[in-house]
Parts: sequence; C-alpha cells; structure tokens
Amino acid sequence: MKGIILHGGHGTRLRPLTHTGPKQLLPIANKPMSQFCLETIVEAGVTDVAIIIGGIGSKKVQEYYQDGKKFGVNITYINQEEPRGIAHAIRLCKEFVNEEKFLVFLGDNIIQKSIIDFVEKFKNSDYDATVLLCEVDNPSRFGIADVKDGKILKITEKPKNPISNLAVTGIYLLTPKIFEIIDNLKPSWRNELEITDALDNLLKQNNNISFEKITDYWKDTGTPDDILHANAEIIKKHPDFSKQHVVNSTGMNLDHIHISGKIILGENYDIGKNVSINGPVIIGNNCKILENTVIGPNVSIGDNSIISVTGIENSIIMQNCKIDAFAKIKDSIIANNSEIKDNSLENLVDSRHVPYKIYLLGEGSKISV
Ligand code: TTP
Repeated sequence: MKGIILHGGHGTRLRPLTHTGPKQLLPIANKPMSQFCLETIVEAGVTDVAIIIGGIGSKKVQEYYQDGKKFGVNITYINQEEPRGIAHAIRLCKEFVNEEKFLVFLGDNIIQKSIIDFVEKFKNSDYDATVLLCEVDNPSRFGIADVKDGKILKITEKPKNPISNLAVTGIYLLTPKIFEIIDNLKPSWRNELEITDALDNLLKQNNNISFEKITDYWKDTGTPDDILHANAEIIKKHPDFSKQHVVNSTGMNLDHIHISGKIILGENYDIGKNVSINGPVIIGNNCKILENTVIGPNVSIGDNSIISVTGIENSIIMQNCKIDAFAKIKDSIIANNSEIKDNSLENLVDSRHVPYKIYLLGEGSKISV
C-alpha cells in the first residue's frame, strides 16, 4: 500500500496566509496541518509516501519533511506544475503507485481517529475504491454521496439541493483503476479534473465503490473559520492532556498566574504579573506572556512569541510574533513574524470598553492599533 498527500492547490480562500507558503503547513495546535495527515498514514502502516507539491510553497514543504526519515517514512516529491485539480494531482502518481493499492489524503483535511481499520478492510477487499464519508451541516459546500441500502448510488459536487448530508471527505482508498478513469475525464467548469467526477464515473462503470463513515471529528480546512475550528478541537483533545491538566515542561512555579482549564506550556517560558490563561491553550517554546494579558480559551501560540497587555481568544498566533497592544483579539490568525503594537499604551482605559478585533495577518505583517 502506498500513500499520497496533496500539498499543492491555490489556497485562495486563505489569502493572505497563503501568499508566502502552502496552507497545508499552517499550524493547528502548533503543528503543520499536513503533519497530522502524515502521522495518520504512518500509523496505518504505510511507509512509502508521495507528496504532491506545487507553486510558492514547494521548497518549504521539502525543507520541512525532507526525505521523511524523521517521520518514519520514505517521501517522494512529485511536482504539479499547475493546480489543475485533485484528480490531476492523483494522476501524476501513476508511476509511483505502480500496481499497488493506495491511500490519498488531502493535506488540509484534519481527522482525529485512526483509519487503520478502514485501510486493512480495503486491503483485503475487491473494491476499486473506498471513500470516507462524514455527516455535515452544510452539504451544499461539499461533494455529497447519495447512499441507499449501504451502497453509494451517485456523488454530486456541491449540490444545490443535496440528497443527503454525507460529504465525501478528502481521504480516498484507491486502486490503479482510477488512472484510466482520470485519463478519460473532462475538465470541469473551473477547468480542473475533479475527484468527484472521477469517482462518479468509476461508480457508473461497475458500481464497485464502498464507503466508511467517519463518526468522529473531520474538518476540511479551506477557510480561516475552518482552521480556527480545527485548532480549538485539536487543542481540546490534545493527547498530552491524558496525563494532566497543566502540562508544564519547564516546571516553573505557576502560582502567580490565574489558570483555568487545560494548558500546555512549552519550554523556557516567561509569564508576567496579572496574567490569566484560560484553557484549552497551547503555548510553544521560548514564549513570553507578559503583564496584564489574558489568553484563551482556544488559543495556540507558536514558539518565540511575545504577548503583553492583550486579550486573545479563539485564535492562532504563529511563531516569532510580537503583540504589545492594549487590544482584545478574537477569531484571528496571525502568521509568523508579525507585530501588533499600540501607540496609545500610556492612555490605558478600562479593558471592558475595548472592542474585540479580528485579524487575518499574513507573514511579516506589522500593524499599529
Ligand atoms: P481545495 O481546497 O479544493 O483547493 P485549493 O487548495 O486550490 O484552495 P482554494 O479553493 O481556497 O483556492 O484543494 C483541496 C486539497 O487538494 C488541498 O489540500 C490542496 C490540494 N490540491 C492539490 O494538491 N492540487 C490541485 O490541483 C488542487 C486543486 C488542490
């Protein structure tokens, strides 16, 4: 069995975050989202993985994953010159896959449970494909499967009048049979080779596709809101919390901090006076959370960031950020090396009167509030 992670695409809905790198390297709970995919693949026993790269982020992806050894896999990089669709990206892997069955994971899909049972079942089956479905609240945003008596009848991309709420997730178990189907596929209205069309054509050919249901968490993180949702969910269920509520790597005395909920603190932190941390919160290494700051819930802060006199809720602050502002930040994503400062700090007013602000700041942004 081989594995494929799709790490290309346009990422238009996540601009400006995707102006300097691929969305799949954006951190969820301080870890690149595609690393969750890789770990799930490794856990399912797959050791040969191709990563489809393309565009601006290709080099960053190769630098991060290298040859895969430190993640326990062999990685082959396959370049997709233009993002011409998921099915197009899969077709580029024909030689890599050879005659084997394979698992495709879209690098921006986050799940929490193992898929090892689905993989084993597929390995021992005669199915041409197994798709993983998940119930969603807003089916017209997804490829939707029409299922009857345990069989998929049809797959429709973003239906106006959805026949079910079963979305086709971005995890596909496939055989090389899909390549001949893709070879006969016509580009869609958006000029892409669509995986839903390929699967639907495979269905029409011999009706030999099975499905499994993800009953736990699944998120396709195409938009900032999706990323924040996944971040909150993943921090909340972080495996480190199985042992204790406050994971304090440095062992520093935390008596002077007001803590509630679950918190993970990285190494070498500095926490000032009058700080409250309301979990779930994850704070990376070498961070400074300075005086009069309130962090959480649902916040992740990347390594080497410094925050003072600020309130932050339901947000992702990436690495090397500096926020020194009498501000309340909510539902925000602030990329690496960004700075928010406040020129009016000397005129502090009662923080209850400070309105919440929402930021989506690309890498290296510098703003004053
Ligand atoms: P999408 O989220 O459907 O598309 P996108 O990444 O281009 O983003 P946007 O719509 O915001 O512009 O892509 C799903 C996944 O597949 C994602 O991980 C990127 C990957 N992908 C490729 O690797 N190659 C492609 O040609 C396309 C379209 C997507």
